[in-house]
Amino acid sequence: MLKTFVYRSVFFVLGAAMFSAPLKAADGSPAAAQVDRGRQLFQKANNGVTCATCHSLENTGTAVGPDLKTLGSVIAPRGLSNTINMTVTCYVQEYTLANGTTFPGFEKSKAGGMIEIWDLSASPAQLRKLKESEVTIKPNSKWKHPAASVGFDDQEMADLVAYIKAMATGNAKEVKAEELH
Ligand code: HEC
Repeated sequence: MLKTFVYRSVFFVLGAAMFSAPLKAADGSPAAAQVDRGRQLFQKANNGVTCATCHSLENTGTAVGPDLKTLGSVIAPRGLSNTINMTVTCYVQEYTLANGTTFPGFEKSKAGGMIEIWDLSASPAQLRKLKESEVTIKPNSKWKHPAASVGFDDQEMADLVAYIKAMATGNAKEVKAEELH
């Protein structure tokens, strides 16, 4: 009788320990709440710069720009926030067509003499498929990452960074606004 009780208690305690850990992370921890706020901003920001117009996470949004999981998994919060605020681009180029049309673009693919380029002069960006031989490529000096010009406040930026890092690493970890400076 006592033995059964002790065994049961042991199983009860073990069971509670096993189940309570994931529950705590998912419901209402500061990190999880912050990731939720970041997700909302990412998918629809009040300031008109919606990241999901050009980046895709959790199968939401359009993958125009780079996959944010690559950088998000290796860079610290401060570096990520600086990159979001960048005024210099490294992948966006200036494309000129045979007829003289010029636009800032992001290369999506290149194969068999054809090139697919996201035309960033359109909003939302438009995918153009062109003959590689008909485009001239120059470094971009005009197009700026949209997030740079709107100024998210520190808390919003921390929320966005926490969201991107959580999606990239699989771990929700709180990001304090001070960490960005
Ligand atoms: C109009 C399209 C557009 C919007 C809107 C946009 N981005 Fe970008 N983003 C890009 C492009 C294009 C690049 C590549 C820039 C370059 O050439 O370095 C980029 C690059 C980045 C990078 C660097 C990725 C890397 O691996 O180098 C991060 C991080 C990023 N964006 C985050 C965001 C966040 C967060 C938002 C919303 C606040 C946002 N972006 C809104 C198009 C956009």
